[in-house]
Amino acid sequence: MLNIGVLVSGRGSNLQAVIDAIESKKIKAEIAVVISNVPGVMALDRAKKHGIKTVVIESKEHSDKSSYEKQVIKALEDENVGLVCLAGYMKLLSQELVHHFRGKIMNIHPALLPAFPGLHVQKKALEYGVKYSGCTVHFVDEGCDTGPIIIQAVVPVLDNDTEETLSARILEQEHKIYPEAIRLFSEGKLKIEGRRVKIETK
Ligand code: GRF
Repeated sequence: MLNIGVLVSGRGSNLQAVIDAIESKKIKAEIAVVISNVPGVMALDRAKKHGIKTVVIESKEHSDKSSYEKQVIKALEDENVGLVCLAGYMKLLSQELVHHFRGKIMNIHPALLPAFPGLHVQKKALEYGVKYSGCTVHFVDEGCDTGPIIIQAVVPVLDNDTEETLSARILEQEHKIYPEAIRLFSEGKLKIEGRRVKIETK
């Protein structure tokens, strides 16, 4: 069975969606550990509530990124993790971590990549005036939100949208496509071919 490690920094609603999909047997895998770089966040409470092991490795306690990430890699290795899911993890991964788990790290991003990478992207989408936005699950490479795309979902941007209403509409889709991408990975149905991710349908 696939062991998943989830990296979080905050609210953890995507973590919750994955927990729910596992508990309802839509995904046959286990969350072996939830690692937060920030103490006391809601994502940790959600994990504990479901009996999932939590580890806090405070990034701000480490002056160099490498020693911080060595600890993260160790915590993942200790649990024999075969898929790392970033779920609202507010740090860029170092090359070391990306190399260590190449092709086995996913992220969920609240925009239709490659449009609007980085932070505060729902606000940027509104300010730009796009008519559609959405979310993207992608494999993680060395860049910021640049890895091969697995699934995207599209939502309309409405004339009276605020950052909050657009974010909420996107989040609803995030909670669907992230568990789905994890399910496909856990069933060995994702094949990375260069920049393209092919999804086996049978
Ligand atoms: C989500 O919008 C996700 O796309 C982005 O950060 C937010 C995390 O929310 N990467 P949550 O912690 O999963 O509720």
